[in-house]
Amino acid sequence: MPNFQSEYNRYRRLIDQRLRILADEGDRKPRSIAAPLRYVLSGGGKRLRPMLLLLAYQAVKGDSIREVTWRTPKKATPHFSPAIDAALAIEALHNFTLVHDDIMDRAPSRRGRATVHSKWDDSTAILVGDELVALAYRSILKSKTPRLREILRVFTDCLLEVCEGQGYDKEFEGRSDVSLREYLRMIEKKTGRMLSDAAVIGGLLGGATERELRALKKYGQHIGRAFQIQDDLLDVTGGRSFGKRIGGDIVEGKKTYLLLTAYHLVPEHKRHLLDKIVMRRSIRKSDVQTVRKLYQRYGVLDNARREVEKNLREAQRALENMKPSRAREMLRWVAEMLHDREM
Ligand code: IPE
Ligand code: IPE
Ligand code: MG
Ligand code: MG
Ligand code: MG
Repeated sequence: MPNFQSEYNRYRRLIDQRLRILADEGDRKPRSIAAPLRYVLSGGGKRLRPMLLLLAYQAVKGDSIREVTWRTPKKATPHFSPAIDAALAIEALHNFTLVHDDIMDRAPSRRGRATVHSKWDDSTAILVGDELVALAYRSILKSKTPRLREILRVFTDCLLEVCEGQGYDKEFEGRSDVSLREYLRMIEKKTGRMLSDAAVIGGLLGGATERELRALKKYGQHIGRAFQIQDDLLDVTGGRSFGKRIGGDIVEGKKTYLLLTAYHLVPEHKRHLLDKIVMRRSIRKSDVQTVRKLYQRYGVLDNARREVEKNLREAQRALENMKPSRAREMLRWVAEMLHDREM
């Protein structure tokens, strides 16, 4: 079994390094942009979306059976280099969504540090988010490919979908009748779309066939669904490594997978606390602990975990429609690795 973990770390270092260069362009900009821009782009993160893009590219090219040859960082030209600008673009776009999402969700921390709007202020966070969108477009426009138009359409539609998903997420806060179906559609937009489009764009850059694009899309969609349900879970079960305020979804009255399924699993006489969240009556920190116990006791957490596992398995199954390659195996490994993620 190849050591995919160390390979993943190498990809991550390369992405981090290239993002730093992107952030350094901010040096010529007003301080109100430069400092928070560097703060966001150097803040770590799993770099999952660019990773999927690069791996999808390699899986389609089929030249990834041999190991990636890593040269000195400056001349880092592993054979996925034609996809690197798009990979940086998707990560920049993702970071934009995070910075604005944190304003919307009143989140105090992310990646183990203060969020941009709490370290600076809302205006700074709005501006840096806008800047990140522009940088994302600038980066993807550098891609040398005959399919640039198609890729830009996917990228733009992806951004529109995320906005829609975020719209539903906010609207649902004020509604008490959100169905599981509506929830799944919402997370498909706010989270799934960017993960599946990362894989699709990688595929387009590599010259994928329709069949391969369908497989990559399906893979990304299942990863996306698993990923957001897991994120909902970690809001309750996460530790320090999660890097975000625990219980934030409960306090903000978010319609999470846990809350929506709890209505079927928790007996009626125990539901008053859930009603409190749904009706958004002031939730205290001690309530978070009580909700966690309730979720634990009535199998809400286990049920969500099973849904995550099911989707990760289906993601892996989607890859059967790709030709065998080392990159395909690594995409499979990513799904496996996500199973136990704590951050
Ligand atoms: C956070 O995404 C937003 C969600 C879709 C839940 P990630 O968990 O991928 O965030 P980073 O980039 O690793 O910090
Ligand atoms: C993630 O939703 C979706 C986007 C950021 C677009 P969350 O609001 O659950 O993400 P976190 O938990 O703040 O990372
Ligand atoms: Mg949110
Ligand atoms: Mg949030
Ligand atoms: Mg969340």
